[in-house]
Amino acid sequence: MLKKLAERILFLKGDVDMSPSGKVQKLTNVKDMLSLARKMEEESAKEYNIWANECAANADAISKQLFEGLVADEERHFDQYDTELENITQFGPSYLALQSIERSKNISSPPQEG
Ligand SMILES: [Fe+2]
Repeated sequence: MLKKLAERILFLKGDVDMSPSGKVQKLTNVKDMLSLARKMEEESAKEYNIWANECAANADAISKQLFEGLVADEERHFDQYDTELENITQFGPSYLALQSIERSKNISSPPQEG
């Protein structure tokens, strides 16, 4: 999606800045990571909604659709992090251990044919 956004910016004769928008935070606690990720997704969705409305106000339907797609992505990511955070809170550290075991199984399993 970000590639499409960059292509749109270039199409509109703008400049694409790929530098990080903020400082990287070093977090080692999973709950802290998920809380921050959830907050960032929520803020991004709000920002993209504002930009979608700005595009609509300027009769730019294509850019509006791109931002609306980003809002949907960010809301889905928010929900994913929110669910993981709830699961960790409810089941404790054993939830993370189970997730790790499942991931290892999936990585070591041969791909399914069909
Ligand atoms: Fe996201």
